[in-house]
Amino acid sequence: MSAKIITIAIEKGGSGKTVTASNLAYLMGDEGKKVLCVDTDPQGNLTFALSGGNSITSGIYHGKALYDLFDGFRYTHTRDYIVETEYENVDMIPASSQTPRINKRLQDLYEDAQQFKDGDPKKLSSMGDFLLYFLNQVRDDYDYIIIDTQPTRDSQILSNAIAAADYVLIPMQCDAFSEDSAFRTYSICSKLSKDPASRLKGIGVVLTMVDKGAATRETREECKSELGSALFEAEIPMALAVKSSVRKCVPVCYSARTQPVGRSYAALYEELKERLDKLEEN
Ligand SMILES: Nc1ncnc2c1ncn2[C@@H]1O[C@H](COP(=O)(O)OP(=O)(O)OP(=O)(O)O)[C@@H](O)[C@H]1O
Ligand SMILES: [Mg+2]
Repeated sequence: MSAKIITIAIEKGGSGKTVTASNLAYLMGDEGKKVLCVDTDPQGNLTFALSGGNSITSGIYHGKALYDLFDGFRYTHTRDYIVETEYENVDMIPASSQTPRINKRLQDLYEDAQQFKDGDPKKLSSMGDFLLYFLNQVRDDYDYIIIDTQPTRDSQILSNAIAAADYVLIPMQCDAFSEDSAFRTYSICSKLSKDPASRLKGIGVVLTMVDKGAATRETREECKSELGSALFEAEIPMALAVKSSVRKCVPVCYSARTQPVGRSYAALYEELKERLDKLEEN
């Protein structure tokens, strides 16, 4: 097995990236798939969500988090930075309060990588290639790797997360600001996927926090015409169960699997699998 890497990204904050990441990971693990989650967001929300509420400021992952993985390069073993989560089959590389320092650290790693001869896997040609280099060490241990990202456009950590992806999933709230942001993220990723040097093969947009209002209907129609088949049929409804599951530090599919929002996340996962299978066929 060689894990499919799915990066969840949109620069707009509060769009449902982390809730989507934690629920997909939970559903995958529940189905018996091995999953590695990577929390690249300095806020550490995915770390919080999958660890029963461990805040990055608690220091519990000190020396064992994403920053520590990036602290070295030549002799780094990615396995040393993987922790178990509360959920069966779901592991994680957690965030810590040091995560923002990765952006600076990459400059030193890049200089170190240039010391290697051409053809050596450690001779990385871009500062954006390090996360993939680290994940490649453990890809055969997992079916899926899910990377949660921060709400930003300009970050080396985000570039690493996108460069590592086979698939970028863009969760979009149904409002005009989020739509604008989703289209921009989609367009950047689309361009990238056409570059023969890129490993990105697919991009999809999923509507989140969907309500029954007229504005939502209009947004959906615009997305359909602009994005075509890149728009997922599955949609995630606005649901109080999500807010309460976030408070309880559990994925909503764990606490409310049979409720509409739980079933919607299950539908999203099924559709994602179909889309990933299609990419494989092509
Ligand atoms: N389907 C939903 N229904 C109701 N509330 C939701 C839903 N999905 C997410 N939320 C709420 O919206 C908030 C933002 O969600 P989330 O943290 O997943 O977004 P994000 O894109 O990861 O944010 P950030 O950009 O800050 O990382 C959360 O507090 C969550 O409770
Ligand atoms: Mg988040």
